[in-house]
Amino acid sequence: MGPLGQFADAGYGYYFFPKLEGEISNRMKFRGRDVLVWSLNNYLGLANHPEVRKADADAAAKYGMGSPMGARMMSGQTVYHEQLEQELADFEHKEAAYLLNFGYMGMTSIIDSLLDRNDVVVYDSDAHACILDGLRMHIGKRFVYPHNNMEKFEHQLIHAQKVTAQTGGGILVITEGVYGMVGDCGDLKGILRLKEKYGFRLLIDDAHGFGTMGKTGAGTSEEQDVMDQVDVYFGTFAKSMAGIGAFVASEKRIIKSLTFNMRSQIYAKSLPMPMVIGSLKRMELIRNHPEIKDKLWVIVHALQSGLKEKGFNLGRTQSPVTPVFFEGDPTAATQVVADLRENYGVFCSMVVYPVVPKGVIMLRLIPTAVHTLEDVEYTISAFSEVRKKLDEGKYGTGGIPLVADKY
Ligand SMILES: Cc1ncc(COP(=O)(O)O)c(C=O)c1O
Repeated sequence: MGPLGQFADAGYGYYFFPKLEGEISNRMKFRGRDVLVWSLNNYLGLANHPEVRKADADAAAKYGMGSPMGARMMSGQTVYHEQLEQELADFEHKEAAYLLNFGYMGMTSIIDSLLDRNDVVVYDSDAHACILDGLRMHIGKRFVYPHNNMEKFEHQLIHAQKVTAQTGGGILVITEGVYGMVGDCGDLKGILRLKEKYGFRLLIDDAHGFGTMGKTGAGTSEEQDVMDQVDVYFGTFAKSMAGIGAFVASEKRIIKSLTFNMRSQIYAKSLPMPMVIGSLKRMELIRNHPEIKDKLWVIVHALQSGLKEKGFNLGRTQSPVTPVFFEGDPTAATQVVADLRENYGVFCSMVVYPVVPKGVIMLRLIPTAVHTLEDVEYTISAFSEVRKKLDEGKYGTGGIPLVADKY
């Protein structure tokens, strides 16, 4: 059953695959009860922005959900796809961009297309599954460095350089902008300090940074003032854009090469028109309404500083992603989560071993621009009560408290 499937009997429908119902917002329904939701990557609150909903609905009414029919290369090209790409490229200060149907698949194809057997990859140990799966297709060498450890990073570059001296290939470094699980950022500046010495190119996955980080929301590379040194920028529509799809931005000749080689795009149908036209509306809002991002950060600061003042351990987050670490076993973790949901009406996600070390419970909160300061205050007080119970040993016995829906 695998690392998660082994818990299917106990957790299905509650800890895994829970059904949140109602309008996507800070308040939704879970198993019939109202909950305050901190589990949606709807950072800017665009999922239920009236202009976004209208743009999506109008485009669906005009074109249907299936248009355009066919892959971009064959029959799925439109002026809207091209316009969105140009707008994304401009926003990222890159020459060109190309749309991807899903971030996950797109990233695997970017990696596959950029590399040949002579090239070497140096990548961060905490890289997202889409990066790791892209690397599975790479038949050349790869070297991993411990998360953000610049000393070990340089060691791996030395190894990589030895290989490329033999093969004549290039070195590609891959990191994330924001690490979505614990919220810290890739040390882009530290990485780029070594760029000239080792002559590598840098690809960043900024799924969680696009729209949330940097002065204009252009992402972690803008935040760290290194936009022009990132060779290939990847962002997804699944988080700040509250949509589906993704994009890659870079110099023209690289985008041209990706356009003609990314198998996930060449052999798959084009991104549907409502998503493309809806994304143009989302980009317009992101560009013209910086107050939306500012509101997100008001909530982020209130939540993170409020939790820290109460002594909670938020690890090393530098982004809206707000992990809260407790000590306890997985049984205690499930009871904490159930108590929060059932008795306090607070819905957040839980992460346990093997994603975090044994004995650590991580609850993950995703603040958004549609949360309120009252939501923050209420949640901090619920967390304080739950921590008190945890410290008093009130959780951790009696097994997992709720039965599964399905298995
Ligand atoms: C870091 C990172 N990369 C890529 C993806 C995949 O993006 P998508 O949901 O668009 O497939 C995600 C989303 O879960 C992510 O967090």
